[in-house]
Amino acid sequence: MHPTALIPSFPNALEDWWWMQACQKWPQLNEDKLLHLIRKEIVQQSDRFTKFRDFDEEAYGKRDLSILAYGNFYFPRTWTAMSFALAEAFHFRGWNPPQKGPVKILDLGSGTGASGLSCLHYLHSQCIENHLQLEALDYSSKSLVFVKKLHSANHGLWPDSRISTTRMDLNFAFDEKNRKRYDLILLGYSLNELLDEEGDDSNYRQLLFCLPSLLKKKGLVIITEPAQAEICHALHQNCAKLTKEDPIVSLHAPYFNGMTCPLAEKQSKYFSHEVRKMNPPLIMDKINRPLNLEVREIKFALSILGTNKPKDLGHRQQVCRIISPVKKRKGTVSFIGMAGNGEEYTYEFQRRNLQKEELKNLLCLNRGDILKLSDIQMNPDRSNRIRLQKMEQISPLFMPRFEV
Ligand SMILES: C[S@@+](CC[C@H](N)C(=O)[O-])C[C@H]1O[C@@H](n2cnc3c(N)ncnc32)[C@H](O)[C@@H]1O
Repeated sequence: MHPTALIPSFPNALEDWWWMQACQKWPQLNEDKLLHLIRKEIVQQSDRFTKFRDFDEEAYGKRDLSILAYGNFYFPRTWTAMSFALAEAFHFRGWNPPQKGPVKILDLGSGTGASGLSCLHYLHSQCIENHLQLEALDYSSKSLVFVKKLHSANHGLWPDSRISTTRMDLNFAFDEKNRKRYDLILLGYSLNELLDEEGDDSNYRQLLFCLPSLLKKKGLVIITEPAQAEICHALHQNCAKLTKEDPIVSLHAPYFNGMTCPLAEKQSKYFSHEVRKMNPPLIMDKINRPLNLEVREIKFALSILGTNKPKDLGHRQQVCRIISPVKKRKGTVSFIGMAGNGEEYTYEFQRRNLQKEELKNLLCLNRGDILKLSDIQMNPDRSNRIRLQKMEQISPLFMPRFEV
């Protein structure tokens, strides 16, 4: 099976740039000491993201150490998650740059620019000829200074692009009068930071619900979030509410034909998210060695919204997004897929029916890949198991992989 979209790997130039910033900031520290300093900060940030969840302007955008630790460790991950999301918008959901004029991109909660700059780089890698204009918005002015520096120091990665920055708190509504329109609005791991510790999601909703009014006719909002159950459910439940309340808005992803997330609807213990493999950059790997955090996979929730109709992608069991790991058992290989009719099915092969190469291909499928299924039994058994006889019954519709 061949990939349907190629993802550029995280540029070495950016890895070097972030490490150089850290070395310049603390010239008195040797590599070991600098790594140690960054590690201590990463442990705090990791706890903040996963346990304490206390976010305000001071959280991690005010000190050089937290920005440089984020840049050297988290930045390549959120960058890569956005690259996958963009590949889906571009190669599968039918997003296209405008026929003339610049591509206008708004990055909300940009931080030091991982998602917005990933977008510039991705569009450049796809040979899009339009001029690219990125507006980065965050309440951390220090982070915004870094986005600008990073953009200008690595211009070769995004030629023919311009960036502007605005310091703004996303908790306050956008000015109704002065609304511009964008081709892409990105929120990379930022929307969840508007969730209040007590579970009040009114600011979160206020922001999410106003986004469609900032889109050009064929524009898309692309949201990536950390893959944690509550955050994923909050995202998918609120996207469902938005499409219900505002019929002009459609959900383009993660599923099909405008369908909302069934897992969030029934508060399942499982939650919709992607799991993509990643080779961590060397510095990230060095920082991680004693920490042992998961750096070989990126997990993220994804939502894509627009005001145009989503592409018709087939209904019922003929299309599915993989929502589980691929399981290899003694006699079978199987995975769970969310199908076009909103049902979960276990798609199962007998290993004896598979050639060696076919088995290898199956095991390389990732959670998040989208498949077309043909010649399948129309009435699955009671446990929603669909038995597949041969590999030709599945073909990838969206199977992004890194460029080699
Ligand atoms: C986890 S970081 C993600 C940064 C970047 N988007 C990325 O992809 O790596 C979350 C960002 O959201 C910003 N943020 C959180 N709450 C905000 C708010 N109320 N107003 C503006 N920015 C906010 C933070 O300052 C931080 O830069």
